[in-house]
Amino acid sequence: MRVVALLWTAALVLTADAWGFRDGVFHNSIWLEQAAGVYHRESRSGRYQLTYREAKAVCKYEGGRLATLQQLEAARQIGFHICAAGWLDRGRVGYPIVKAGANCGFGRVGIIDYGYRLNKSERWDVYCYNPTAKECGGVLTEQQKTIQSPGFPDQYQDHQICYWHIRVRLGQRIRLHFLEFDVEDDTACLADFLDVYDSYDDVSGFAGRFCGDYLPDDIISTGNVMTLKFLSDASVTAGGFQLQYTALNASKDSVH
Ligand SMILES: *[C@@H]1O[C@H](CO)[C@@H](O)[C@H](O)[C@H]1NC(C)=O
Ligand SMILES: *[C@@H]1O[C@H](CO)[C@@H](O)[C@H](O)[C@H]1NC(C)=O
Repeated sequence: MRVVALLWTAALVLTADAWGFRDGVFHNSIWLEQAAGVYHRESRSGRYQLTYREAKAVCKYEGGRLATLQQLEAARQIGFHICAAGWLDRGRVGYPIVKAGANCGFGRVGIIDYGYRLNKSERWDVYCYNPTAKECGGVLTEQQKTIQSPGFPDQYQDHQICYWHIRVRLGQRIRLHFLEFDVEDDTACLADFLDVYDSYDDVSGFAGRFCGDYLPDDIISTGNVMTLKFLSDASVTAGGFQLQYTALNASKDSVH
């Protein structure tokens, strides 16, 4: 068992305008990661990398489709706020702003609409719509829950990108306990992998990358948030993984 160290990185400072505190948790716009069936995705290589065609493919891989402006607005009205422009249905680009801020959305509230793009080779993020519950990722606040790769115990599919954001009560920690693990093996874990972050995003607090069929040790967070990111490429797939997280009361459960 090991306690992961919280590493504040330079990247955190560089992207500081998209970040803030809520309920004592430092987070970025992925706080409310999905609402009313709408969710935001970026390319596996980072922000603003997807052409219109690639954006459509990202949604389709997860069983969804590009969100319409109306669907994005419905999500916004229940709190969906993301400071990143993404492709929408029929080549429109925009993003949902709930709370006016100087650094995002030109101080306005609503859908910031960049209109229909004539140049479909421009690169943005994407907003997908999938009204049926996605089993790939989500925001988890339960005290204990099992997380598994999409389709588990069947093999996972190619081109999966799943984010699980775990948030338990302030003062608690999170213990990850792996039950099964079989993810395509390669020396640097570049093809398929599970990343664990000791933070509420995948920018700071990197705690480990796992692939292969070696069952990882338990991991305990330093705070009350954790992020898991699972990514599969376009070739081999494997059995997948299953793990359970449990909230620990720091005062009672001694963590060394
Ligand atoms: C379309 O956008 C891409 C990416 O920004 C750019 O490289 C290309 O020159 C643009 N094409 C036109 C016709 O403006
Ligand atoms: C942690 O503390 C809360 C509130 O005091 C309690 O309800 C819960 O059962 C405790 N959990 C564990 C695992 O001890």
